[in-house]
Amino acid sequence: MRSLQYQEKKLYMDNVPLTEIAACWQTPTYVYSAQEIIQNMQAYQNGLQDHAYRLCFAVKSNSNLSILQLIAKQGWSFEVVSGGELACVLRAGAKANSVIFTGVGKTATEIAYALQEGIFCFTVESSNELLRIQKIAEELDIIAPISLRINPDVDSKTHPHISTGKACHKFGMSMEQAMSLLNIPATTSLFPQAGEGAHRADKGILRNNKYLQLRGIACHIGSQITDTEPFLLALDKMMAFMHSLEETGLHLSFLNLGGGLGIDYQNSSPPQIKEFTAQLSNKIKKLPYTLILEPGRSIVATAGILLSRVEYIKETPEKNFVIIDCAMNDLLRPALYSGWHQIIPVQQYENLLPIHCDVVGPICETTDVLGSNRVLAIKEDDLVAIADVGAYGFSMSSTYNSRPRVAEVLIENGKPRLIRERENYEVLYSAQIDYLVKD
Ligand code: LLP
Repeated sequence: MRSLQYQEKKLYMDNVPLTEIAACWQTPTYVYSAQEIIQNMQAYQNGLQDHAYRLCFAVKSNSNLSILQLIAKQGWSFEVVSGGELACVLRAGAKANSVIFTGVGKTATEIAYALQEGIFCFTVESSNELLRIQKIAEELDIIAPISLRINPDVDSKTHPHISTGKACHKFGMSMEQAMSLLNIPATTSLFPQAGEGAHRADKGILRNNKYLQLRGIACHIGSQITDTEPFLLALDKMMAFMHSLEETGLHLSFLNLGGGLGIDYQNSSPPQIKEFTAQLSNKIKKLPYTLILEPGRSIVATAGILLSRVEYIKETPEKNFVIIDCAMNDLLRPALYSGWHQIIPVQQYENLLPIHCDVVGPICETTDVLGSNRVLAIKEDDLVAIADVGAYGFSMSSTYNSRPRVAEVLIENGKPRLIRERENYEVLYSAQIDYLVKD
């Protein structure tokens, strides 16, 4: 993380001592660097400037309103996957017409909400979803802007839990299905052997439909991809598909390639955003449509740490455990995907012997490990910073073990400020009803 540095043996973020943040707002606390978020965004903007582009921040990676506001201020659009994310984006003051709504299970309520707010487009993931959108759009008498999410059957070579672009995944539709919705016989240069396909209720639904406006096509092959090759392969397939649609006289305004680059959690050395965007730009430079990207991780991951305090150092005949005050409910990535995050002591010592240990949380699950096999020079009551947690950190947190969610602090222009209060116990029961309250 560019924003983290030691000064006189104490860890600082953007020149703010992390000890001060802990003293002011206690631990565990997520701390973010606005400067680093902006630098990551600018890397995408600069890299794509020679071509028409639209950058949509993937809200699932971090939905804190102050961070969404910071991102909106840079002129970015948003990608959401639920009515709740749309509500957060609107609450942050962003325009509805900057929002793309993705997801395989959009409910009727969510579709009506998004239509009434006037979003930029739905990324449609199935023909039955398209039928549902058409019906609701007709009832509301609002034209629904849409794109079709194609499943390009590309192996993104990432962790299987976050790979989304293979034919066996629940996401998107095949190119043949998309052609059928457009009533295009799948016998163009892309599918020379294919037949017409069966007659279905949705066949040709997109042809001259009063309530459906097809604006583009989309795909998303996975997350934490540290090599440009799968992206380029997906882009080739999508460009060929766009071309075959054009051959039939259909002109669309954008191609949405989905999420952004992976980051370097531990020696994975992904390319720089600059290199990634240069390779994409090079491929699309003569094409007459806008390129859309929906990065989340590469914008916010490296800009956030989780500041936590050591409660106990526990020695057992087998192992040493450093027990800290945050847990898998606050940061799920290690438990869910074996995600590796660097754990950095906030205080450095001259002469303290490092210990070999597992860094664990207090939750009653053996998988509540934030970092295994670490070597740390650390004492009880010390602070640690868990690195690269700005994406899919707080946004995946829960109150498991009835642990209220933690605070969030944003450092902007050298000044830290609280952007989310630590939840209190009230949150744990305030929504519950129909139980006996004892005095
Ligand atoms: N667009 C779509 C349609 C997506 O499904 C995703 C992520 C993104 C964009 C953003 O991708 P990114 O730029 O962040 O790679 N919880 C997991 C990550 C799940 C990502 C799911 N989709 C983790 O902690 O690694």
